[in-house]
Amino acid sequence: MNIDDKVLSFSERLTFALRSLYSRGGYRPYRMSKFEDYDLYSRNKDFLISDQVITFTDIGGKLKALKPDVTLSIIKNHKDGETVKLYYNENVYRVSKGTNSYKELMQAGVECIGEVDNKLVGESLYLAAESLSLVSGGFVLDVSDLDILNAAVERVTDSKAVQDELVKCVSEKNAHGIISLCEDNGIDPLLASPLTELLTLCGSPERVIPKLREICSLLDCEEAAGDLREALSVIDGTDHKAKINIDFSVVSDRSYYNGVIFKGFVNGVPDSVLSGGRYDRLMRRMKRKSKAVGFAVYLDMLERADAPDDSDIPRDGMLNVALPKGRLGEKVYSMFEAAGFPCPSIREPNRKLIFENPEAGVRYFWVKPSDVAIYVERGAADIGVAGKDILLEYEPEVYELLDLDIGKCRMAVAAPKDFEDDTSRTLRVATKFSKIAADHYAAQGRDIDIVHLNGSIEIAPILGLTDVIVDIVETGATLKENDLEVVETIVPISARLIANKSSYKFKGDSIMKIAAELKNN
Ligand code: PRP
Repeated sequence: MNIDDKVLSFSERLTFALRSLYSRGGYRPYRMSKFEDYDLYSRNKDFLISDQVITFTDIGGKLKALKPDVTLSIIKNHKDGETVKLYYNENVYRVSKGTNSYKELMQAGVECIGEVDNKLVGESLYLAAESLSLVSGGFVLDVSDLDILNAAVERVTDSKAVQDELVKCVSEKNAHGIISLCEDNGIDPLLASPLTELLTLCGSPERVIPKLREICSLLDCEEAAGDLREALSVIDGTDHKAKINIDFSVVSDRSYYNGVIFKGFVNGVPDSVLSGGRYDRLMRRMKRKSKAVGFAVYLDMLERADAPDDSDIPRDGMLNVALPKGRLGEKVYSMFEAAGFPCPSIREPNRKLIFENPEAGVRYFWVKPSDVAIYVERGAADIGVAGKDILLEYEPEVYELLDLDIGKCRMAVAAPKDFEDDTSRTLRVATKFSKIAADHYAAQGRDIDIVHLNGSIEIAPILGLTDVIVDIVETGATLKENDLEVVETIVPISARLIANKSSYKFKGDSIMKIAAELKNN
């Protein structure tokens, strides 16, 4: 049977090309049912991106699920002893962040399970790079190492919770966050300096490894550095060498993954399109002795990228910047102007929302302050300035490069002056920031009832709608004029420079330049 290539969509062609690649590499196809025992996921909830799974009861009364993941099923069916190399093409069913509903996603991936050594990890890296090259010539494969990252966070603190927050900061390239965490927890910031160095250490293995060796010797994890080097050496002699970066902002769940982990980006697609790594820890948790490495390509991410930029240089070399409309935004623009990215037309009195200066290579647009993070996360803007309140509330997948030290205020709990908390009753809380409020009271083990409002929050306790509010306090004037007072401060807030993770790979020079200038000014 001959299929006319023209009738196939980009992702269909890619699917066949990936199958052929994996099969030539000695991997055999693995086919599985769409259904799995729900029990498998209830035991390994943290491994899944979301613990929300579509379930149903089968004819025999057993609780089943539509697969949210493929790897767990492959391990479940694996018997220790032999080394197996498998590839698959499967649909998985997950909650989509944007719509908060379930979505069917197509994945292609490979798993190597058994006696996995550095050479096989290197082979997986090579196949990942090959897979990306089939998508587009303009790709980057970011490689990190969890054993090294673990050694760096364990040096800072024994507290698992603080370690997790430190790792989150590294994943956001958020050096200022590491310093604040140390301050808040009474930790000597010097202990965190190897971690901060890992965060800034980003580039080709050739350039990065000598420095990495020094850090690993300080952290007493030279073996991990050796493993990473050996795995990367598999790619050394190939065409893909120049597309590999060491970047510690690639992180995965530390209770499942270990050693080398990686993520792939292609030019023109706003999120990572490939993710993988070693997961010996997951194997142990599922009572298997074998080691394992693998990755998945998210084919649905490529749906809109029928023609991803086939080079490392974006077609439109302009840097797209989302500015928060209003007083703060004007201040932010002045900072960007002083940093060498002027766009005089932005100061003209009109109601235009987009302004560009091709000479300076920059395009600004005014958006609602609470929308900046969405524009950046989805890649419509390469960078932007958003309040920490918005970042905490919506947790966008972005880099948080700088604390700009402007737009300063705090997130606080406030109540009428005569308020006395009765802890035997559910506390009623009015807020625009439901997640921040829920996290704050969950940490105290306090039962609350959230009333989500969109503005004028201060009225809620006055009218008896709620007992307290969780809201932004800047000067305190609004609280004062409404006879309310701060009960406790939750977190200080200020404006942050954020960047889209994929843009950072392909427009990194201008983004780093602007960040450096903003920091110095
Ligand atoms: C914010 C916040 C408070 C006020 C605090 O409201 O929700 O109401 O500012 O500032 P202050 O401490 O200086 O008085 P915003 O102006 O954003 O309006 P909104 O309530 O309609 O969202």
